[in-house]
Amino acid sequence: MSANTIDKDKRQIPTVTPQPKDARELLAFYLDAGADALIGDTPVDRMAEEALPPPAAGRPAAARVAKEGAAGGSLKPGPTLDRLRRSGPPPAGENRSRSAAVAPTSPEAAVMAARQAARTARTLDELRALLEAFEGCALRATATQLVFADGNPQSRVMFVGEAPGYDEDIVGRPFVGRSGKLLDLMMAAIGLDRASVYIANVVPWRPPGNRTPTPQETAICLPFIRRQIELANPDFMVCLGGPAMQTLLSVKDGITRTRGRWFPYDTGTREIRALATFHPAFLLRSPLQKRFAWRDFLALKKALAAPAT
Ligand code: URA
Repeated sequence: MSANTIDKDKRQIPTVTPQPKDARELLAFYLDAGADALIGDTPVDRMAEEALPPPAAGRPAAARVAKEGAAGGSLKPGPTLDRLRRSGPPPAGENRSRSAAVAPTSPEAAVMAARQAARTARTLDELRALLEAFEGCALRATATQLVFADGNPQSRVMFVGEAPGYDEDIVGRPFVGRSGKLLDLMMAAIGLDRASVYIANVVPWRPPGNRTPTPQETAICLPFIRRQIELANPDFMVCLGGPAMQTLLSVKDGITRTRGRWFPYDTGTREIRALATFHPAFLLRSPLQKRFAWRDFLALKKALAAPAT
């Protein structure tokens, strides 16, 4: 029998020896599928866990549980895939020691915690730090990093998308992939660029496999994006796609009926004007719809050129 076959029922069945590259791809696949912890070959006595010594100082037990079991509940214990992925030093500005890093115990509690945390942020930098430390959204465990914003927070225009995708998750900035390139072109067509607009997403962590964020995840992230809009204080907000529009403008109609219309949006401190248009990812799939998006961008250009009231 050769080294890479086994003798079973007299048939020669080839075995596959995993290569290191395959193992990495497999781990990436599991991460994208939402798994967040490894399970060993030997059974674990979970009843005995209660007898374990308390966690090291500086990390509350509740936070540890939520972090390690966030996406999969019963998948703990074991080293988290999240931690494997984050084996390097945390990105610059990452702050995991803030007091908001206490895991809420239910989705309702997570929404409440998000509201309370978001309210305390006095600046966009503080809001970013709070989000970095926030343990209430399970997406944080599967994402590579927070995707907070790009562009100029002093801008009069803020674009808001749904959630980061693969490229944004790697780079840490919104709309840097294919749809971001199209957004850049659309902005350039009306004289805008990343230095003259501010860009964010309703959900600041990439959902595994680019799936749609669940209503629960969106509800948990909503207080943060609302506060982000309030602190950025733009004159105009552009919702990119139906999900961002429905979440922020509380509109039930689809994007095809809603795009191109101006809505009042209460930031919490004042009323600004909000417009919805097609998401660039949709335009990549349906290029004929670009003419409608063009109209919307022209409406934005006109609004920007009008004297401030
Ligand atoms: N789609 C979004 O909604 N946001 C991004 O940042 C990228 C793609």
